[in-house]
Amino acid sequence: MKTILITGGAGYIGSHACVEFLNAGYDIVVLDNLCNSSPKSLERVRELTGLDFPFIQDDIRDRAALDALFRDHDIDAVIHFAGLKAVGESVEKPLLYYDNNIAGSVTLFEAMQAAGVRTIVFSSSATVYGDPASVPIREDFPVGGTTNPYGTSKLFIEKILQDVAIADPAWSIALLRYFNPVGAHKSGRIGEDPRGIPNNLMPYISQVAVGRREYLSVFGNDYPTPDGTGVRDYIHVVDLAQGHVKAVEKLAEGPGVRVWNLGTGRGYSVVEMAKAFEQASGRPVPYRFAPRRAGDIAQCWADPAKAERELGWKARRGLEEMCEDTWRWQSLNPNGYEP
Ligand code: NAD
Ligand code: UD1
Repeated sequence: MKTILITGGAGYIGSHACVEFLNAGYDIVVLDNLCNSSPKSLERVRELTGLDFPFIQDDIRDRAALDALFRDHDIDAVIHFAGLKAVGESVEKPLLYYDNNIAGSVTLFEAMQAAGVRTIVFSSSATVYGDPASVPIREDFPVGGTTNPYGTSKLFIEKILQDVAIADPAWSIALLRYFNPVGAHKSGRIGEDPRGIPNNLMPYISQVAVGRREYLSVFGNDYPTPDGTGVRDYIHVVDLAQGHVKAVEKLAEGPGVRVWNLGTGRGYSVVEMAKAFEQASGRPVPYRFAPRRAGDIAQCWADPAKAERELGWKARRGLEEMCEDTWRWQSLNPNGYEP
């Protein structure tokens, strides 16, 4: 494995993965249509690594563009981050999500097949487990029961890749089920830059701390959890990005479909997150209890033992570092990549 195509490489997780692959000695090619990201993230990846790489601004649904890309570059493996990810928007615009995420992925897989590239790492999500019967969640837990088109698109793409491998056992496929990625690169130069009002907890908290929003609404305080608020497995985005490098190394050993949870194995509540962020930032994070958010589950955290055993990968960065690194990015870039 030498040259890696990173779809969605200008995005939050993708930009951190670019840094880790470059630092590990790989060549990368980035494909992104910039529908939810800024090209500045890639300029900063170059600045952080001192390395250059080609960027193609195009859409994974554009077959001709993909064919040209595979013709012009000798790609060994694909890391497939490109996709839309806003849960609420997916409920309002299901066809957009199914077209972008599923049709886009199918077009990418067809172009890979035509080019003879059969190694892929797919960005899946713990959302495919639905509401798990118990925690921690293992990879052999049943999947399904997704409550929105975003989650369903992840479930379908996993299934499509499994069927592709049945039809052609030469494919090497990793389905990485992320828990809740947070944090930013240590430098504070790249990080999460959501457009509009953040849907997810950590970017919302950091915008409260920096003064862009008045207070955090805590969605539900009557869950069957220690303090009544939702519990999740937050994982530092750099740990997550490094998991992708390990997955590519593992896929090089041979064909098949492998599933790995990428999480820390430990859950924190919404209130614990707000308090940890106050501590790290030295700024108040006022919050108010609000009704539960539709589709939310009480608690969700990973059993990460399989990834540790098979990939030799383990999340190393704790909650304090997640909050400190988010705060550094947020305070150095109060408006994200915008000036
Ligand atoms: P992001 O929106 O920051 O990055 C996704 C990137 O894909 C963006 O740069 C966007 O411009 C690009 N993109 C979207 N549709 C495209 C298309 N049709 N053609 C080309 N580029 C396209 O999101 P992220 O948080 O970095 O997530 C990356 C991947 O990980 C996504 O597939 C997401 O569903 C998955 N994931 C994210 C989380 C999370 O909490 N962030 C959790 C689980 C899974
Ligand atoms: C959500 C998505 C999931 C997706 C993931 C990453 C839902 C139901 N699930 O996961 O499919 O893969 O994002 O994009 O949307 N919270 C608040 N106040 C806020 C924001 C969040 O209290 O303003 C709470 C939530 O109720 C939850 C926790 O914080 O208990 C984490 O929320 P969030 O960051 O949105 O992640 P998930 O809901 O786990």
